[in-house]
Amino acid sequence: MEFLTFALPKGRLLQPVVELFRDAGVFTCEISEDTRKLVFDDPDHGSRVLLVKATDVPTYVQYGSADLGVSGKDVIDESRKDVCELLDLRIGRCRFIVAVPETSHVSSVQELSCNSRIATKYPWIAENYFRSMGIQVEVVTLSGSLELAPAVGLADAIVDITETGRTLSENCLKIIAEVQPSSARLIANRVSYRSRRNDILDVARRLEERLAGRIESGRGGGECACEAADRQSIASDD
Ligand code: PRP
Repeated sequence: MEFLTFALPKGRLLQPVVELFRDAGVFTCEISEDTRKLVFDDPDHGSRVLLVKATDVPTYVQYGSADLGVSGKDVIDESRKDVCELLDLRIGRCRFIVAVPETSHVSSVQELSCNSRIATKYPWIAENYFRSMGIQVEVVTLSGSLELAPAVGLADAIVDITETGRTLSENCLKIIAEVQPSSARLIANRVSYRSRRNDILDVARRLEERLAGRIESGRGGGECACEAADRQSIASDD
């Protein structure tokens, strides 16, 4: 049997994602970051799991090394990879925000001076956002610890994700704008989506039913969101 291959993100999303997939019966093998192992096979379920860096998931899926993957909406948008987004897994929810030092007189993005420097890990999303707002800024790309940038004069503001708000408050930053919400999504390789459509839709349906708590109660019926995404994807391919 040919494995259905999943690229899952290492880091904070991994545990809730593995729990969801196990509860949905997609695979049941032990998957852990405690070892250096990166490939986990579950022959009983025909599943192979690859553990990859969160920002690389869309790349593995676009190039077909994985048929399916789980990635934050933030990472998918920033990567601009050509993948098929099937389902909002409703975990890893966070918000994209613009933040400035608490001591700043600025309370909205419109009040930022022309050519303000914006530090971010998400240059495409940040540039797109400020362009859409008609505000001229200079985007400085960093790979982490963005909250430091305003404190040391590297940037006037940051565009980042926030979940609990703790990192912002511990670094004396305040939110001045919401850019977009984000959460983990199930994505598929476009070729796999055509060649293994039934297998992929079966996984998406199991996950969706699990999310809706319908597996135990035996309820079901109606169109799944993944089927709506399916129709949309087919329409955009044709
Ligand atoms: C993300 C983000 C913030 C933090 C926000 O960073 O860039 O720094 O989480 O979370 P909170 O609102 O719950 O405090 P991540 O942990 O991915 O690490 P990084 O800064 O090294 O990229």
